[in-house]
Amino acid sequence: MSRPADAIEALLNEGRTFPPLADFAAEALVRDREPYERAEADRLGFWEEQARALHWFEPWQEVLDWTNAPFARWFTKGKLNVSYNCIDRHVAAGRGDRVAFHWEGEPGDTRTITYAELLDEVCRTANAIRELGVGRGDRVCIYMPMIPELPVAMLACARIGAAHSVVFGGFSATAISDRTNDAEAKLLITADGGWRRGAPSMLKPIADKALTTCPTVDHALVVRRIGDDAEPVAMADGRDVWWHDIVPGQSTECPPEHMDAEDLLYLLYTSGTTGKPKGIMHTTGGYLTHAAFTHKYVFDIKPAQDVYWCAADIGWVTGHSYIVYGPLANGCTSVMYEGTPDTPRADVRGGGERAGWDKDRLWDIVERYGVTQLYTAPTAIRTFMKWGAEWPAKHDLSSLRLLGSVGEPINPEAWVWYHVHIGGERCPIVDTWWQTETGGIMISPLPGVTTTKPGSASGPLPGISAEIVDEEGNTVGVPGGGYLTLTEPWPGMLRGIWRDEDRFRETYWSRYPGRYFVGDGAKWDADGDIWLLGRVDDVMNISGHRLSTTEIESALVDHPAVAEAAVVGRADERTGQAISAFVILCGGNVPTEELRQEIRNHVGTVISPIAKPADLVLTPELPKTRSGKIMRRLLRDLAEGRDLGDTTTLADREIVESLRAAIDT
Ligand code: PRX
Repeated sequence: MSRPADAIEALLNEGRTFPPLADFAAEALVRDREPYERAEADRLGFWEEQARALHWFEPWQEVLDWTNAPFARWFTKGKLNVSYNCIDRHVAAGRGDRVAFHWEGEPGDTRTITYAELLDEVCRTANAIRELGVGRGDRVCIYMPMIPELPVAMLACARIGAAHSVVFGGFSATAISDRTNDAEAKLLITADGGWRRGAPSMLKPIADKALTTCPTVDHALVVRRIGDDAEPVAMADGRDVWWHDIVPGQSTECPPEHMDAEDLLYLLYTSGTTGKPKGIMHTTGGYLTHAAFTHKYVFDIKPAQDVYWCAADIGWVTGHSYIVYGPLANGCTSVMYEGTPDTPRADVRGGGERAGWDKDRLWDIVERYGVTQLYTAPTAIRTFMKWGAEWPAKHDLSSLRLLGSVGEPINPEAWVWYHVHIGGERCPIVDTWWQTETGGIMISPLPGVTTTKPGSASGPLPGISAEIVDEEGNTVGVPGGGYLTLTEPWPGMLRGIWRDEDRFRETYWSRYPGRYFVGDGAKWDADGDIWLLGRVDDVMNISGHRLSTTEIESALVDHPAVAEAAVVGRADERTGQAISAFVILCGGNVPTEELRQEIRNHVGTVISPIAKPADLVLTPELPKTRSGKIMRRLLRDLAEGRDLGDTTTLADREIVESLRAAIDT
């Protein structure tokens, strides 16, 4: 269906509240505020009840040990295995034939994987990685495209008690080796490449480059995804092993390790305010409890009938919690897709004739698999808006019954467009706020209960406590704006930063003692609903990808021609924020267009193509205060074309004019 633009305008102006839809609410798992009240009355009892939904080999003794705050211990001494919870128990309950993943490759190839098949594949893989020397307590780095072997590899690690560290497939060699070395990983699991935008995107050559500086890695296990469609990849003798040579012949018997609730499940590196990414630590029992609980109730999952699709990449936390661990713990059927939303359609799925690029791949998938819940990011929604409502309109999207959003604040226009053109005005939208550090969703509507407002993430879920405070840490009251904090520990919370206790305390717990500092600005409206306002630190959010200004500045000055660099995030209509870089060249370098591009590309090589600055200005000077501090606010104003306001603290005012001129050219 499609509605004219003026209908959208009317929706935006009607006070912008959307009460739960009667048809949806009548069937919803949660229909009233009872869970909020129960959790309010007995928070730990509430979480204990959620933990009971999992399978435990041995029960816990204490729900929460917070005596060594900020280092939480949830479900102390409890024993469980994440892969057992995600697979075996569903098979044991007679649901082995249920589909775990409907996987679709970008070229149009597909695989359907049932829970029984997943169990066999995970056990074989677990035995194979044991053969490669990995055991309980080790770390494994995973650098893969969105293929079924990726969740299989993660679950195989969990089965034998090794922690994984997934590095997003878009990252460069340096990013892999930094993370691998920090974690001292023994094994790298990768693939020759994956398919993106109609072409192979090769990963193994990047992994090879990384491995030249990773002394702890003994082996690379390599999936053959691209094969003859590209130059054959190099396989280092004695180090590299093909997945198809070692996995298929393994036994499908692999008893799961009995892990402690607080054993490390994974590390996931994320950008902070310094140049060095932090290894966020997630453990076993509390994390899985949080991921499973939030997945079930926020998305209103009915595992026997739903086909759920989180269109994120597993390389980010959203994929960890809401493609792999939450959905599988709930015995849910998911869609997993390898490629991008726009694909060359010429010879896929037997079509042949329709040359050119199609921008309805997602809607085609929704229709063909009968997707019931779709979870994606505002930046994607804004891209779909730009492409036009005619693309989704070509498809029957009536199977959808709920939509989700994550990663950045969703602007009301995008929310309403999503509601009208994708949800057919029938589907509640859950705008879910959380972070890599929180492990799972924290602030979100419950779809059968909450009256939503486009642009607001509503309020904390049952069992979660959030407050907005001012500079001094006093609650601002309703309505009011300030900094978002979390006031009580929660089961999915990070347990620390890998091997950096000080940074953990300093980053999250020092600004407001006793409270977790989120790093986001937020406001309460008069109804007490929370509106997220973006980061208040030097972390940027580019298309939902988290990058720090310092990380990009380090990559810029790593180029031999760069003397100094300053980076700011400026507002961008489609990507939320875009990177603006201001660069001073070392003496003797002539500022040419070629050099400018070379420096931009250098960031792509050092970090990732997603980190390439959208604008890069070569300048002889940077605006500084008299004490020599770069005036970032001023750079942001310049990048966004704003009036500069007060520049009295600026040491040399002429710089502004020369920068303005440089931006305009
Ligand atoms: O600024 C918030 C924004 O994304 C940050 C967390 O980024 P990351 O750790 O990469 O995790 C992203 C996926 C969970 C937050 O500090 N953010 C995430 N979700 C929302 C959001 N901002 C506003 N609304 C959201 N729903």
